[in-house]
Amino acid sequence: MGSERPGSQIVGTGAYTPERILTNTELARLVDTSDEWIQQRTGMRERRIARDDETASDMAYEASKRALDAAGMKASDLDMIVVGTISGDHPMPACAAYLQRKLGVSQIPAFDVSAACAGFLYGMSIADNFIRTGAQKRVLVVGVELLSRILNWQDRVTCVLFGDGAGAAILAPAGDDGRGVLSTRLYTDSSLADSLLIPAGGSREALTAEGLEAKRNKVFMVGSDIFKVAVKNLTAASRDALTAAGLEADAVRWVVPHQANLRIINQVALRLEIPLERFVLNIERYGNTSSASIPLALDEGIRDGRIKPGDTVLMCALGAGISWASALVRM
Ligand code: ACO
Repeated sequence: MGSERPGSQIVGTGAYTPERILTNTELARLVDTSDEWIQQRTGMRERRIARDDETASDMAYEASKRALDAAGMKASDLDMIVVGTISGDHPMPACAAYLQRKLGVSQIPAFDVSAACAGFLYGMSIADNFIRTGAQKRVLVVGVELLSRILNWQDRVTCVLFGDGAGAAILAPAGDDGRGVLSTRLYTDSSLADSLLIPAGGSREALTAEGLEAKRNKVFMVGSDIFKVAVKNLTAASRDALTAAGLEADAVRWVVPHQANLRIINQVALRLEIPLERFVLNIERYGNTSSASIPLALDEGIRDGRIKPGDTVLMCALGAGISWASALVRM
């Protein structure tokens, strides 16, 4: 995962968010919370919620089409599809299979990566390494989540935090102009696996009528457990990505962090000594969209002209598992 051999570069990005906006004030009518609490503790004001007839692969398709357009490619140009998601269309098969069908391509490998909020960066690292070895050339990497369907809307600890969305990037072989993926770093520490999970519906706990009643098929989180390690791990992972590329923090033009909590992002910014003005933030409008969060912000930063060709961009994310990751890219 170093930068010695020619690797990949991002040649196009795209994003999609559903139209429906759910505000903090609306949430305060559902559960015992307030606009003030949510804004102060998380930095979120609103999030997007998918239509009833919308699926994760529908959202992934919209983001992918936009990424293909930006790259000047057709779906038939793709060699592989990697989707980071924990809320695909079905527990089986992969959301990537449905995305492949919607894109109208066949035969190419299409699979999901389950690394929660780190899913997009895990996917990007996989794509980069496939391209480095020469096994594949053009890889579509998607982060998509339809979390509103797997939330317990009576649990104020979780339901205020998450939103729906999709983001995509296409990776292709890097040229010799220094642009491309400089380094990626992946980590998992299972000691907090039970602090953020969907308890029932897998092989450990079958989903029973009682489990359904108790909403054990929905996201459960001990937020403070995750918060404590998030700042430390995201900072260390970011430093590792910089070290692997032989760069210092002042080389970073933009940080595109996972948008889980503005307080976490603030602390990471302080520790890395990178001013918050150099962070691409949209947590206020989208909340935590898990694996979609980084590609959504990346695409926004590129399309509004903040992120320019040649800029060095640092990305970092942490979520259930707990799994976390970082990546350094010269755009
Ligand atoms: N509204 C009002 N009060 C609330 C709410 C709410 N929505 N949620 C919790 N509270 C209450 C708690 O019950 C608690 O009350 P008590 O003191 O009477 O017991 C109080 O607020 C403080 O609770 P904490 O959990 O200590 O609050 P904290 O400041 O830690 O903020 C939060 C909670 C926002 C969840 C924070 O812990 C966090 O962001 N954690 C990290 C989340 C994260 O990064 N997850 C990983 C990615 S997600 C994924 O992988 C799918």
